[in-house]
Amino acid sequence: MLLFSLLCLIPKILALQSWLGLPSQLPLQSHHDYVPFSDDFERFVDATLSEFLTPGLAIAIVHGNSTFAKGYGLANIASKEPVTPRTLFFTGSTTKSFTAAAASKLVYSNETAHTKISWQSKLVDLIRDDFVLEDEYATNHITFIDALSHRTGMPRHDLSWINGDPTVREQVRQLRYLPPREMRSQWEYCNLMFTAVSHTIEIVTGTAMATLLREWIWEPLGMHETFYDLADALALAEKNDEVSMATGYLYDNYTKVHVPVPFSDIPPSNGAGGVLSTALDYTKWIKLFLHPTNSCNPITPAAIKAMTTAHMPIPASSRPVTGTDFYGLGLQGSVYRGYETIGHDGAINGYMTSMLWVPKLDWGVAIMQNAYSLAAEIVLWRLLDDFLQTPDNETFDMSSIARQEQATKLQRLENARQTLYPDANGDVVAPALPLQAYEGVYHHPAYQSLRLSISEQPDHAETSGINSALPPLLGLPAAKNYMNISITLKHVSGEYWWGRTRYGPGSFLADDMKKAKFEVGVDGKVKGLGLQAEPAMDELAWFEKVE
Ligand SMILES: *[C@@H]1O[C@H](CO)[C@@H](O)[C@H](O)[C@H]1NC(C)=O
Ligand SMILES: *[C@@H]1O[C@H](CO)[C@@H](O)[C@H](O)[C@H]1NC(C)=O
Ligand SMILES: *[C@@H]1O[C@H](CO)[C@@H](O)[C@H](O)[C@H]1NC(C)=O
Ligand SMILES: *[C@@H]1O[C@H](CO)[C@@H](O)[C@H](O)[C@H]1NC(C)=O
Ligand SMILES: *[C@@H]1O[C@H](CO)[C@@H](O)[C@H](O)[C@H]1NC(C)=O
Repeated sequence: MLLFSLLCLIPKILALQSWLGLPSQLPLQSHHDYVPFSDDFERFVDATLSEFLTPGLAIAIVHGNSTFAKGYGLANIASKEPVTPRTLFFTGSTTKSFTAAAASKLVYSNETAHTKISWQSKLVDLIRDDFVLEDEYATNHITFIDALSHRTGMPRHDLSWINGDPTVREQVRQLRYLPPREMRSQWEYCNLMFTAVSHTIEIVTGTAMATLLREWIWEPLGMHETFYDLADALALAEKNDEVSMATGYLYDNYTKVHVPVPFSDIPPSNGAGGVLSTALDYTKWIKLFLHPTNSCNPITPAAIKAMTTAHMPIPASSRPVTGTDFYGLGLQGSVYRGYETIGHDGAINGYMTSMLWVPKLDWGVAIMQNAYSLAAEIVLWRLLDDFLQTPDNETFDMSSIARQEQATKLQRLENARQTLYPDANGDVVAPALPLQAYEGVYHHPAYQSLRLSISEQPDHAETSGINSALPPLLGLPAAKNYMNISITLKHVSGEYWWGRTRYGPGSFLADDMKKAKFEVGVDGKVKGLGLQAEPAMDELAWFEKVE
């Protein structure tokens, strides 16, 4: 078994050429003169880490038979542990590509137990009791392809799994309390559907995803430093001096300090996010897609094709695209300067990962960092332009875009009151009851519980619009939860409020704003809170006051 995997690790460039029908020489520079980590590039990375407040970052590039890898900055600020290409990071939503690959093992399996399973299999037929949506048609028709390409119509509803500690099965069973939109009408990114697929795979096989991913994918590819469980990653770091686990950080813009994210804040693994790996290990994953017909690959060429084929167009973004962005299965595709690119980004609890490859040029890169910032993406675009030898006047300046995106988001949060309530320009009406009456615990069957109390903290942030005389109400998760989220509710008028959600000390990438409205009953008591728990939807979810 071991010998087999070692042999299989030798890349097969020729296989790539036959797959693509390309002439045998590579179209751009040969890899003899490809030097990704030039002095100029290193200065660029250092400047990017410092401007975008990112403690550390690991890069691994694969081109043909060559791998280039390097770490920058710190994996842990307190211990000054440097980042290396073998530093472990949470890789967030890049997990989705592994979930899709695991599903492909069932789809292309010849085992009699699985012969009926195809990409068109309906989740309801495999996990009937658990998979129930508000919409009966959607319940009965969502397939693996729908779930894995974000076309189920279900919005994110992320609050439902981060504001509590539901198991994977409970997360799936909560879908019935979460409003969907029209199925297959638009691309709608939804983590919970990947959780549903991973739950389906575990039910069908009777085996934990951690085991399946290891046996089906990571071991055959020689990815020995990739895990589904934090404990396994920490065990490796413990016994191997060359591997350490990076600490994720959130930057507190008021104290100007990087706040470490405790591991207890990391949700248990699910098929949407939660894989841990190293930049170097990810090159083995990328190579599989660069060489899809390699006979040693643990997933079939048909599976790779299904994963990297467009199933759903993605609306235009601020990134330069000379084609249409699309979503395959757990992977995203695009076209840059005439070349198709495939990849995915990931972000979870102070960690971010970007992976991208250019199949036609046999080139790909994985970048992992321990902060919420756009540094990894900035570095990725620079590497891509360097590799493509883009003329200086045509390179994509992601740093400028990142500055703009940050300014736009901060502006949007600053203007939240006006944006959420454009008509609230008249006199401010006081709430019906004294503020103390609104304190207490509010519960929703999927979004879990929030405890509201009158905030004693001075609110550093937004001062937009009319300054209410009332102090804010601070909402914190009422029970065990992940991701340390909070909501600061500010009075607008009458029973209308608006809330700013924060992740930890606040992060411009993760923070958001929501409408909120209390309901006072005929008995003169607060009955509950309508909260725009899913920012993509206008409707308010009903949180009943239970304490
Ligand atoms: C890559 O390595 C394989 C196996 O060692 C070799 O056959 C092939 O020629 C190499 N390809 C390139 C482009 O160097
Ligand atoms: C399943 O059977 C088909 C047809 O016999 C074969 O081509 C394919 O390689 C088999 N797949 C696996 C995973 O063994
Ligand atoms: C951080 O605080 C400064 C003021 O000290 C402000 O100008 C800047 O916009 C803030 N940045 C973020 C990301 O909140
Ligand atoms: C960049 O410069 C080249 C050579 O001078 C020119 O042909 C090209 O049109 C320029 N591109 C842009 C976007 O201005
Ligand atoms: C949650 O975030 C707040 C704001 O940064 C911080 O004061 C608090 O210690 C954090 N709690 C945990 C458990 O990380």
